[in-house]
Amino acid sequence: MDGGNHSVVSEFVLLGLTHSWEIQLVLLVFSSVLYVASMTGNILIVFSVTIDAHLHSPMYFFLANLSFIDLGACSIASPKMIYDLYREHKVISFGGCIAQVFFIHVVGGVEMVLLMAMAFDRYVAICKPLHYLTIMSQRVCILFTAAAWALGITHSLFQLAFIANLPFCGPNVLDSFYCDLPRLLRLACTDTNRLQFMVTANSGFICVGSFLILLISYVYIMFTVWKHSSGGSSKALSTLSAHITVVLLFFIPTLFVYTWPHPNSQMDKFLALSDAVLTPFLNPVIYTFRNKEMKAAMKRVWKHLLIYRKVS
Ligand SMILES: *[C@@H]1O[C@H](CO)[C@@H](O)[C@H](O)[C@H]1NC(C)=O
Repeated sequence: MDGGNHSVVSEFVLLGLTHSWEIQLVLLVFSSVLYVASMTGNILIVFSVTIDAHLHSPMYFFLANLSFIDLGACSIASPKMIYDLYREHKVISFGGCIAQVFFIHVVGGVEMVLLMAMAFDRYVAICKPLHYLTIMSQRVCILFTAAAWALGITHSLFQLAFIANLPFCGPNVLDSFYCDLPRLLRLACTDTNRLQFMVTANSGFICVGSFLILLISYVYIMFTVWKHSSGGSSKALSTLSAHITVVLLFFIPTLFVYTWPHPNSQMDKFLALSDAVLTPFLNPVIYTFRNKEMKAAMKRVWKHLLIYRKVS
């Protein structure tokens, strides 16, 4: 495998979530259902926003982008985990493991920037409504999206650079259901304390930094809505609370996994599981159920599909 010169480890053994057969069965059902539901919900959002002209506004474009990245987010670790739940001996190739680390960080990075773009969009809409159309032009939206991908990929490449030259020569058992960077580093047969610190500091800094920026922005936006409280503000509040819920859902497990100094393995794993299967499922639920326009658009899409099927 492509692990550098000294590597002899060609695959990693994953211990999975638990040894209990019953819990594995519950997880199998639970994760499969959530996985299918996430894929369906997010595909429906991307589809609705793309074809429905009523939803051609920056907020929905960003939402569709978030759904698109969520399709990736739930496909990195959970299909492999669901497949592994059947199997006694769970392994992942060296390349597969590195790929998981890479994509997890790309998705995380892109998602963070998109959440900031969505916060900025709401800030402009609520605090600078008269300039909304000039500020949130199509060019700016595309710029935000491009920046999200560029930053996500750059961040992830930096993370990979940390492990590129590490020797993996002996222990190859990961106590998890997927490959994550902190656990992988501990398997290298060299002293990685400094590296572990750098990875934690790097991801932790990015995470805590973006989380604080988002929190402060939303508090400010909420405050503005309150001050100018008048007609339409309850709609604004409901949109904002959906945004804030999604921010919390994304950041709380991530913050735990990357900045908790003494990870409790079991709790860590279940938080990671929630990041892998629950968050990508809840995003569309939160945005759709609380949003009349989105629901109306989805109904139109369904009708469209039904008519199309009857005609053809
Ligand atoms: C993502 O956002 C860009 C810029 O607003 C938009 O043009 C594009 O259609 C969006 N992508 C999806 C999948 O909706």
